[in-house]
Amino acid sequence: MHDLSTRYMGLTLKNPIIVGSSGLTRSVEDIKLLEKEGAAAVVLKSIFEEQILMESKEMQSSHATHAEEYDYIYNYTRQHDLGDYIKLIKNAKAAVSIPVIASINCISSSGWTEFAEKIHQAGADALELNMFIIPADHTQRGEDIEQIYFDIINEVRKHTSIPIAVKISYFFSGLANTIYNLSVRKINGLVLFNRFYKPDIDLERIMVVPSDVYSTPGDETLPLQWIALLSDHAKCDLAASTGIHDGYAVIKNILAGAKAVEIASAIYKNGPGHIGIMLKQITSWMEKHNFATIREITGKLSQKNIENPVLYERSQFMKYFSSATSSAE
Ligand SMILES: Cc1cc2nc3c(=O)[nH]c(=O)nc-3n(C[C@H](O)[C@H](O)[C@H](O)COP(=O)(O)O)c2cc1C
Repeated sequence: MHDLSTRYMGLTLKNPIIVGSSGLTRSVEDIKLLEKEGAAAVVLKSIFEEQILMESKEMQSSHATHAEEYDYIYNYTRQHDLGDYIKLIKNAKAAVSIPVIASINCISSSGWTEFAEKIHQAGADALELNMFIIPADHTQRGEDIEQIYFDIINEVRKHTSIPIAVKISYFFSGLANTIYNLSVRKINGLVLFNRFYKPDIDLERIMVVPSDVYSTPGDETLPLQWIALLSDHAKCDLAASTGIHDGYAVIKNILAGAKAVEIASAIYKNGPGHIGIMLKQITSWMEKHNFATIREITGKLSQKNIENPVLYERSQFMKYFSSATSSAE
C-alpha cells in the first residue's frame, strides 16, 4: 500500500490534492462530492473584501442619505455576506472530515480583518488569503506594494491563530525575495500561484473580452520552477497552483518541494471524478519507481538536491539550444 499522506501547514492531508478556491467549493453538497472523489482538503470560494466594501459604497450613494443610515447598511452588508460564509464553513465542517480552508480575497489591511476571528470561531481549519494588488499604477513602487501584503498578514494574524496561507501572483519584480520575505512572516503556507482573468481582444467584434479562465497542462511548469527554487529557503510550506491537470504534475511539484497542490481547472474541465484518476496516476508512478510514501519524494528534486542547480534558473533559449546539442552540460 502506498502512503500518499502529507503535512501542509500543520494539517495532515490524506494525499496532496486540495481543491482550490473557486465555484467548485461554494456549496456543502459540492464539497461532500469532492471529498467522496478523493480530495484531501478544500479551499472555499473566496469572500471578497473588495466586493463587500464596494457593495456598501454603492448602497450608500444610491440610498443612504446620512451617516447613521450608511453605518447600518455598511454593517448589514458585511454581516449578511459574512453570515452566509460562516454558515458555509460550519455546515461544511459538519458534513465532511477533510480540512476546510476558508479564503478571503483581500487588497488592504483595514476594515475587514476582524472577519478572520469569526472564520476561526466557525471552525475553519485554516485561512487562505487570496491577495492580488495589481501592480498597474506606474507611480507605485514595488516595495510599497509588498508592504501592503506584509501589513495584511500582520493585521489578520492579530485576529486568529489558525494556520494562514497566502496565495499570490508572480507579478513581483524580485519574486524569490518577495516569496522569502512573505515566508518569514507569521504565516504557515504560500500558494504559488493564483490565476487571474486577463483581458483579450476579440478581433471580429473589435472589443475587449476576458480570456480563457481555465489553465492548460502546459502551465504546470510555472509553479514547478519557483517551488524548486524556493522550497529549500522558504520558512513556511509551499503549495503549487496553476496548470496541474494530472497526477504526474502533482508528482513533479512534490519532487520540486511542494507539500500539496491546489487544483481547479482540471475539475472544471473533467468533473470531480478526475481526482480519483489523478490519485491512481500518482500511485502507479510510485509503484513503478519503488516509492512507498509521498514524504520520501518531497523535495527530492528541489534546487539544492539536484546535481546541476542552474537547471532551474536557465531561461534563455540560446542556452537551451546549446545544451540540447552539447553533452558537456
Ligand atoms: C472559475 C474560477 C474561479 C476561481 N475563484 C477563485 C477564488 O474565488 N479565489 C481564489 O483564491 N482563487 C480562485 N480561482 C483560482 C483557483 O483557485 C486556482 O488558483 C487557479 O485557477 C489555478 O489553478 P488551476 O490551474 O488548477 O485552475 C478560481 C479559478 C477559476 C477557474
